[in-house]
Amino acid sequence: MKINLIVLSLATLILFNISCKDATKLTKDVKTEKTLFPSEEISLDNETKIDALIAEMTLEEKAGMLHGSSKFATEGVERLGIPKMNMTDGPLGIREEISKDSWAPAGWDNDFATYYPAAGSVAATWNPELSYKFGNSVGQEARARDKDVLLSPAINIIRTPLGGRTYEYFTEDPFLNKKLAVPFIVGIQDNDVMACVKHFAVNNQETNRDFVDVNTDERTLREIYLPAFKASVQEANAYSVMGAYNKFRGDFLCENDYMQNKILRDEWGFKGIVISDWSAVHSTVKTLVNGLDIEMGTRKPANEFFLADKLIAALKDGEISEEEIDKHIRRILRVLFQVKAIDGTDRTEGSLATEEHYKDAYDIAEESIVLLKNEKNLLPLQLEGINSIAVIGNNATKKNALGGYGAGVKTKREITPLDGLKNRLPENIKINYAEGYLERYSKNDNDQKIEVTLNTPTTITELDPEKLKEALEAAKKSDLAIIFAGSNRDYETEASDRKDLSLPFGQEELIQKVLAVNPNTIVVMIGGAPFDLNTIKEKSSSLIWSWFNGSEGGNALADVILGKVNPSGKLPWTMPKRIEDSPAHATNSFPGDESVTYEEGIMVGYRWFDTKNIEPLYPFGFGLSYTDFEFSNISTNKDSYSEDEDIQINLTIKNTGIRDGKEVAQVYVSHPGSSIEKAAKELKGFKKVFIKSGATQDAIISIPVKELAYYQVSTKKWVVEKGTYILKIGNSSRNILGEVSIKIN
Ligand code: BGC
Repeated sequence: MKINLIVLSLATLILFNISCKDATKLTKDVKTEKTLFPSEEISLDNETKIDALIAEMTLEEKAGMLHGSSKFATEGVERLGIPKMNMTDGPLGIREEISKDSWAPAGWDNDFATYYPAAGSVAATWNPELSYKFGNSVGQEARARDKDVLLSPAINIIRTPLGGRTYEYFTEDPFLNKKLAVPFIVGIQDNDVMACVKHFAVNNQETNRDFVDVNTDERTLREIYLPAFKASVQEANAYSVMGAYNKFRGDFLCENDYMQNKILRDEWGFKGIVISDWSAVHSTVKTLVNGLDIEMGTRKPANEFFLADKLIAALKDGEISEEEIDKHIRRILRVLFQVKAIDGTDRTEGSLATEEHYKDAYDIAEESIVLLKNEKNLLPLQLEGINSIAVIGNNATKKNALGGYGAGVKTKREITPLDGLKNRLPENIKINYAEGYLERYSKNDNDQKIEVTLNTPTTITELDPEKLKEALEAAKKSDLAIIFAGSNRDYETEASDRKDLSLPFGQEELIQKVLAVNPNTIVVMIGGAPFDLNTIKEKSSSLIWSWFNGSEGGNALADVILGKVNPSGKLPWTMPKRIEDSPAHATNSFPGDESVTYEEGIMVGYRWFDTKNIEPLYPFGFGLSYTDFEFSNISTNKDSYSEDEDIQINLTIKNTGIRDGKEVAQVYVSHPGSSIEKAAKELKGFKKVFIKSGATQDAIISIPVKELAYYQVSTKKWVVEKGTYILKIGNSSRNILGEVSIKIN
């Protein structure tokens, strides 16, 4: 490979010297590239090599690089030293190797990986450093499996609590979304792997996702659905983006000139590649001209992909130029150079499923667990006088690394909640385990689950009488009971949205009956999305929320239950009392049919609840601790600011309880005097701080005034209105502990 490149470089340098005009042009291009990839500059040398490579390539070779030749790779050009581009899912860790031409496992015995907590969990940490840690850790695993592209992070906005992929996405809030997406991507790409930020864009439901035509007004698009993608490109320098399945304003996302060319490239300056979602391409010339670079997953033999033989025919028929094709090849070669897949001497080798990586997974999990209720102070468990604990529920032993439709991880380590308790409890405490409820689906749905169902699998809600009896006996004879309930990755799954918020498999009845026989019962929900917890919240004194929480999830959960870890997770979305309260449902604009218009506009998530004064069951940003925090001395460094300044918010946080802990200070901004429609408040800053029991700490949160801008459609500009703004500082969106007014001049 090296020799080829040296020969080519020499040839090109000779050409390069002959044409002065070309040389000026090339230098100019390279300059542009340097500003766009500031972290790792594309060198002149690479550009020269790219020219030389393209000049050597046949049309067939070029086409081979523009589409998948197996499920997760494109062709390279071996004779020129261009490797295949190897891709892998995804958001939970490196996907098990699957067969070249089918979704069946390839049957490798060296592809066991770390199962990382799902994105909902990362978001609940409200900790960008952990997001970096995740990206960096999983990036190393990608390299150890010789991958060039990691199909992650998934950053679509959670528009409805019923979304099947809610667990795979971060949040309902665009600010939190971008603050987590950026370090995640940087972490991945620090390991010479491309992040592939997905799914671009407005892919917020699974129902009809293959064809639904999404419509949003322009302001909503810019303020809610695009900020994290924009930051991924401009702040994190993401090398690749995945085009979504659905349509936007009439055109499929993978052939959408407005989104892929105008916004992504012309406005944001994206220089990386756009890879289609699997089987999301519908045309040849249109898709390429409108900005897509690589077609993946089309359900046909490789030569029948839209960018294979059909592309060659289109060129021969004069429907597309070779120059256009070269533009895409050039982009692909650039990113291959960028991650040292071509000509790289010191490319990260990576490592897989190491103790360090399991520890990374643990660190994320322990900060993600959300304490929702602790009225009787049953938590953390005091073990004096406790001889036996009933552990009830299928989720005590359910594994979630694999399951459902979509990407999972084959792992050697998944600590379940029951394993975690066994690992952490002293041996003299007897665990009385009872499964309690069965994960059961009606037969038809089970059969369909193999294909895209676009319907939640219908569950059997009756409890098995024997299982119920066993659970009640265990609860009665034990000093205390812990129920592990919620959902799992078969129930919450890609390719289908849930029908409603109800808890599946008869769990509601089980929980109530267990609570009736043993009031010392702790309820732990495991899931990725909101559920109807109204009755459980009312009847149970102690309620914890945990996630599909990775290889170490069970240990982290046991540590929270036993108080080794003080919970510090905060909900990254609103848990509604009723689905009708949620904006997409209140406006009757979910899921649509052929098309869907997001009628709630910018009022997504808590923006809707706060503006309309609707009480949620648990608000965005909510999460308790085993200690208490007091916020004081809330002030800003100035009273008024101009547009180019940063607002500095100072506050003092005191840990007034007896345990060390972490708290998240959250800053929401209101603009009551605005001349345009604005949400009652919007998250614009946050900081997670660790404070020892009894200690006091000062915190500073900086907000660039530019963050207060709204998107003015008529001028296509971000505009900061002048006037008085109120900064509301709290530890959840509904627990505001202090306010400061500032002026923008
Ligand atoms: C998903 C993507 C995923 C791809 C490859 C698609 O169905 O939407 O997120 O990366 O499959 O597995």
